[in-house]
Amino acid sequence: MIQRVLVCGAGGQLGRELLTTRPTVGPCFARDRSALDITNIEQIESVLDETGVQWVINAAAYTAVDAAETDPEAAREGNAVGPQRLAQACATRGVRLLHISTDFVFDGTKGQPYCPEDDPNPLGVYGRTKLEGECAVVRAGGRPLVLRTGWVYSKYGGNFVKTMLRLMAERDHLSVVEDQVGTPTWARGLAQACWALIDRPDAEGIYHWSDAGACSWYDFALAIREQALALGLLQDAAEITPIPASNYPTPARRPPYSVLDKSRIRSVLGAAGQHWRAQLAAMLNELKHMENAAT
Ligand SMILES: NC(=O)c1ccc[n+]([C@@H]2O[C@H](COP(=O)([O-])OP(=O)(O)OC[C@H]3O[C@@H](n4cnc5c(N)ncnc54)[C@H](OP(=O)(O)O)[C@@H]3O)[C@@H](O)[C@H]2O)c1
Repeated sequence: MIQRVLVCGAGGQLGRELLTTRPTVGPCFARDRSALDITNIEQIESVLDETGVQWVINAAAYTAVDAAETDPEAAREGNAVGPQRLAQACATRGVRLLHISTDFVFDGTKGQPYCPEDDPNPLGVYGRTKLEGECAVVRAGGRPLVLRTGWVYSKYGGNFVKTMLRLMAERDHLSVVEDQVGTPTWARGLAQACWALIDRPDAEGIYHWSDAGACSWYDFALAIREQALALGLLQDAAEITPIPASNYPTPARRPPYSVLDKSRIRSVLGAAGQHWRAQLAAMLNELKHMENAAT
């Protein structure tokens, strides 16, 4: 079925990958923050009315996890107030909304993968405001979809992979946290899951998506080093030491275990994500070609 779709937050990691992977049928309208601020109800209403879309994918969010601790109002505006206004405007017009949320709504004490129906208990401002946003979206009605994900990276913007590549090029030695476990998620695969999900008319409620498998930040850093060396993105192997999170204090507490159970989305889409190592290799390969093209 041909859908008219609006992507909010089109300048972010997921937003850009949503545009890369958009279906070839059906118009897709992309708005970055400069064109549509999701806290601005007049802008929301006029974009919805001008475009006449049937679906909105909200990839906009305040994603600075540590900065949120000292600026909770900004986090709340982007993660709770904005989604609430967007959801209400969508529900009033019969427009369906796919809203993106996070594994950081969980406290990480479960010790096994989190299902969509597990009780959230966020540890910090970012997770609390994202949970508030989820609740507002569900409360607005109109059969919304909430898709939680975690550890997102892409060739765009700032993320763990790009930080590791920079630090490994600058230093001989790095320390990386080994007692926080999750699943890296390439924004490309997440974007493809978003398009597939809105194509299933029966899908409704909360779903989880990440790449397959699980690892610590330390394991992830080792894989980045290994694959980047093989591709020639790095020349030398920086030494990487595993450390406990207690040796790397951050303003925001993070869940020690935030692997997501993807059974529900698998039952709807009929497929699960690729393993995170394969996705990392694909992204680094693109990054290499992007860098080659720039030189
Ligand atoms: N990154 C992760 O590791 C991660 C993990 C779990 C879940 N998620 C969720 O996944 C989704 C996509 O994240 P991402 O990694 O693509 O984030 P991102 O790269 O930080 O992109 C978010 C985009 O939203 C924009 N934005 C912020 N406030 C806005 C507003 N009021 N109105 C319109 N746009 C606004 C930002 O613009 P500016 O840059 O100009 O502020 C940015 O372009 C978010 O819902 C996030 O919470 C991300």
